[in-house]
Amino acid sequence: MSEGRVKVVEKFPPGRFAETAWVREGRVYEEAGRDYLAFWERAAEELHWFRRWKRVLDRSEAPFYRWFVGGEINITYNCLDRHAESWRRNKVAIIWEGEPGERRVLTYGELLREVGRFANALRSLGVERGDRVTLYMGMVPELPVAMLACARIGAVHSVVFGGFSARALADRINDCEAKVVVTQDGAFRRGRIIPLKDNVDVALREVQSVERVVVLKRADNDVEMHGDRDVWWHELVAGKSPKCDALPVDSEHPLFILYTSGTTGKPKGVLHVHGGYNVGVHLTAKWVFDLKDRDIYWCTADIGWITGHSYIVYGPLSNGATVVMYEGAPDYPSPARWWEIIERYGVTILYTAPTAIRFFMKLGEEWIKGHDLSTLRLLGSVGEPINPRAWLWYHEVVGGRRCPIVDTWWQTETGMIMITPLPGVSTLKPGSASRPFPGVFAKVVDENGEEVKPNQGGYLVITRPWPAMLRTVWGDPERYVKTYFGTFPGMYFTGDGARVDEEGDFWIIGRIDDVINVSGHRLGTAELESALVSHESVAEAAVIGVPHEIKGQAVVAFVVLRDGVESTPELKEELRRHVAEEIGPIAKPEEIHFVSMLPKTRSGKIMRRILRALEEGREIGDVTTLEDVKAIEEVKRTEQE
Ligand code: PRX
Repeated sequence: MSEGRVKVVEKFPPGRFAETAWVREGRVYEEAGRDYLAFWERAAEELHWFRRWKRVLDRSEAPFYRWFVGGEINITYNCLDRHAESWRRNKVAIIWEGEPGERRVLTYGELLREVGRFANALRSLGVERGDRVTLYMGMVPELPVAMLACARIGAVHSVVFGGFSARALADRINDCEAKVVVTQDGAFRRGRIIPLKDNVDVALREVQSVERVVVLKRADNDVEMHGDRDVWWHELVAGKSPKCDALPVDSEHPLFILYTSGTTGKPKGVLHVHGGYNVGVHLTAKWVFDLKDRDIYWCTADIGWITGHSYIVYGPLSNGATVVMYEGAPDYPSPARWWEIIERYGVTILYTAPTAIRFFMKLGEEWIKGHDLSTLRLLGSVGEPINPRAWLWYHEVVGGRRCPIVDTWWQTETGMIMITPLPGVSTLKPGSASRPFPGVFAKVVDENGEEVKPNQGGYLVITRPWPAMLRTVWGDPERYVKTYFGTFPGMYFTGDGARVDEEGDFWIIGRIDDVINVSGHRLGTAELESALVSHESVAEAAVIGVPHEIKGQAVVAFVVLRDGVESTPELKEELRRHVAEEIGPIAKPEEIHFVSMLPKTRSGKIMRRILRALEEGREIGDVTTLEDVKAIEEVKRTEQE
């Protein structure tokens, strides 16, 4: 494994931030380390429980851990009622801005009523506790409303990112056997309309489980409403009572399923539950972002990903924060849009991804200069390693050298931020995600599970359970055990490589499995390859990730065509389009090489290492296990063309 060692350019101590931050002393780490169950128990006490738990952690069926056993809770009570019953009733919960420019503000009181109305609407469609509801929507306030409405009645939501294709949507609906789909006519993106409802219609041709489809009117594009199946959101909620009590559910009751790519072609349905997840996202949102009542907090992620679930919806709302939500593209109608939003609402905390930072870096500072960003006091980064150059630019140009940057490492599966600075405590090093959050235990190990020495690269593992961890892979508990606990017994394997420096700070190297991280989004090579071979011209395909200036990594495909099929530039384009249709536009290969064979081991495994080395122009090392060295020479030739 490459060590990817970066020189520490400069260190940034917490400075004045430490004067007012929620956490000001490093003591929390030792305290949590001494008794981590007591630590998480104290965190749980910040929430409302209908019935207190009897035990903090049950390991009797490890690795199927259970947290806050015997407790009863509903995450929406903590996100809504608690605030609506306090002075926060008329505090703004969500400030929303549509891509075309409209604005909407929802207070906690209003949000509670909207959620109640939609919860009653879902019930009227026959949705009951435990039923799955797929949400295929854009960034509109009705998306968090629908999520919270599901959770309120004990139903399980599964948000599918609006950029996914009909095919990908159908697979995800089928896997969780959703009863209802909530969508919208169309979503605005860069001035165009994405026809979400049309995609649902196509997807549902291959789905049996769905009984009803709720359609929000957003973009006013033409859609076909199917008789008994489809109903407009506004017609459905008309006359429904805004009052719907939060259903007390067991701490371990499922809250949502979110699909993520793994090393096989089939995405994994990561399952999170009400109790532990609420505790984990509540405390991390509060401490990592130092969330205070006066903050205007903006996380630029899409709610279709875990970052949006945990740090637009559940974490901030559980803390009673004011959240900014923006519908559209960052550069629409101009690359000044984000900076206008920050100025317009006086955003104090900005949480975004390195790919966005590099995108703005490349466009130049003129789009930012001239906007008043002086309200910002904290910046965050998530999704992939942030390179020191981008870190320093973010710190200087966006943060005016005042704002600490929290580089937060976590995953769909972890539910909550796991490795991160605490802004009032940590000395920041550009490129390092700092240390495990208090009560979280991580280390870097070698192939045998032994901890490696400082600065030596290895595998990143989590050594103890944590409250917001996934509980299983939906419908496939064996896959849960094998994927996460099969590599190093007793430890959760993250799939990432990392090193720890002599001061105990973690440096994440990136995925070491067959997962590609494009603009902070996970794509499995197997998923991409099966999309390619589903095209009639393709016999075989291998996909790798290569470094990309803005996206972090880009997809490069090596394709063997079927006999008699001609390799033309048009076919390349068609295959790129085909992958976009199968998975979604983010999966489009940057580059496709036609080859007549792929380098494989004797047992038939594709040697991606070799393809990667060839693509990057490196020496290819030991190839004695290769089935046919000719394959390499050929790939090399296509590289030179
Ligand atoms: O490789 C790590 C990378 O993103 C992966 C998780 O992807 P996903 O489940 O889609 O969740 C992304 C948002 C939480 C990780 O295995 N990753 C995420 N954050 C960082 C990161 N790599 C380095 N530094 C980070 N801060």
